[in-house]
Amino acid sequence: MDRIDNRRSWSWLRSLSGRGGDGAEKNKGYIPHRQGTFQRDDELMSERANNNCATVAIIRHIYVHIPFCARICPYCAFYKDLLDRSETARFCEAILRDLDQQCAAFAIMPRSIYFGGGTPTALSTPQLEFLLGGFRQRLDLSALEEWTVEANPGSVSARKAASLRKLGVNRISLGVQSWDEDLLKLLGREHNAPQAEKSFQILRGAGFSNINVDLMFGLPGQTIEQWRVTLEKTIGLQPEHVSAYCLTYEEDTEFFQRQSRGEFRQDADIDAEFFEMTMSILEDAGYQHYEISNYARPGFSSRHNRAYWSGENYLGIGPSAFSTVGMRRWQNVADYRAYADRVLSGQSPIGSTENLTSEIKRVETIALSLRTNKGVSAALLTPFQNETREFIALGLLRKTNGNFVLTRAGKSLADLVTEAVI
Ligand SMILES: C[S@@+](CC[C@H](N)C(=O)[O-])C[C@H]1O[C@@H](n2cnc3c(N)ncnc32)[C@H](O)[C@@H]1O
Ligand code: SF4
Repeated sequence: MDRIDNRRSWSWLRSLSGRGGDGAEKNKGYIPHRQGTFQRDDELMSERANNNCATVAIIRHIYVHIPFCARICPYCAFYKDLLDRSETARFCEAILRDLDQQCAAFAIMPRSIYFGGGTPTALSTPQLEFLLGGFRQRLDLSALEEWTVEANPGSVSARKAASLRKLGVNRISLGVQSWDEDLLKLLGREHNAPQAEKSFQILRGAGFSNINVDLMFGLPGQTIEQWRVTLEKTIGLQPEHVSAYCLTYEEDTEFFQRQSRGEFRQDADIDAEFFEMTMSILEDAGYQHYEISNYARPGFSSRHNRAYWSGENYLGIGPSAFSTVGMRRWQNVADYRAYADRVLSGQSPIGSTENLTSEIKRVETIALSLRTNKGVSAALLTPFQNETREFIALGLLRKTNGNFVLTRAGKSLADLVTEAVI
């Protein structure tokens, strides 16, 4: 119940198929094969030349990774680095040069653009204007439906918000995480609750009519009452979209070490209680639960995230960003200085690449679509008739319009159901 877009979902899918149990048994060839297909960058000639754009469909989705953060949160495993203002101008130039390389290799006509991080709003207003203006100059945006920028409450100003809106950004994802001051401190956040509320109002005042609020639950010491208050406070602000993530203890984070030392403990039953409450409160308030961690007012589900979940092609720009086009997936180097050095000297920033197989695609399609309210096509689960029958009998799955869809009880056990049918 806690996976977060493509920045983490590929490693999640790998771990899912590697955890043992029935699903892994049925896909024995999956893990070794997948790992065997990863190549290092020095084994690659010109990846982009190899991704012959003439043979692939038009690219409709672009992700851009901005790795800078004013402060490093102790639970965060995304690729990020402490903001160093002496590096950001060169970095922005590298991003636009990367975009030039991509435009030379692919036909791009985006329906969605997503600036994530890190913290895109850690860049100054002139830098964001340079960067987003560069996107506007280079791309045909006539088909663009959604342009999202992730923002931290600590780095939103009226000037920045107005500028983003003017440049064509029409969706903001605001990292509130909690409205509880103690929990915000525990999370090492730069902002407090009043600042988060002020940022939300600044964004509304700047004309943003599509705002997502990111929240986290299952935090150390968090009570169910604190979570209720956070959900109710969020609803009171009337965002169009809410992402509610269950805390995961990611390796190489301070929270992971504290959990290993026994200071923090994760309890699946308590997490399930938080999740149940999230569904009840947000659905009662008119939000549609359209993916395990995502809730939206009708018409406001994220176009960009839906593209990931339905297996569409997308290009990733920036350090650590993934791209998937046809049967190839690649990832840029996760080091912004090396990334900028490479791009600005005309080299490819790709760090590793993977040849996807139809088996990998099948497993990903099942795992990702099962998490959505549309569910997975019954045809894909034909080899798992015993399992699906059993899950229906247990009340975890239902069949609707030829698709298997998780029931409310099934959503709490989504990973378990997924593991059994891949
Ligand atoms: C790319 S991150 C960060 C965006 C922005 N920099 C921020 O922190 O507000 C997107 C979201 O992932 C969630 N997140 C990050 N680390 C997490 C973790 N270890 N477990 C669960 N959710 C996490 C947070 O809700 C965060 O807002
Ligand atoms: S601000 Fe966001 S991206 Fe940066 S460290 Fe914190 S959670 Fe991670």
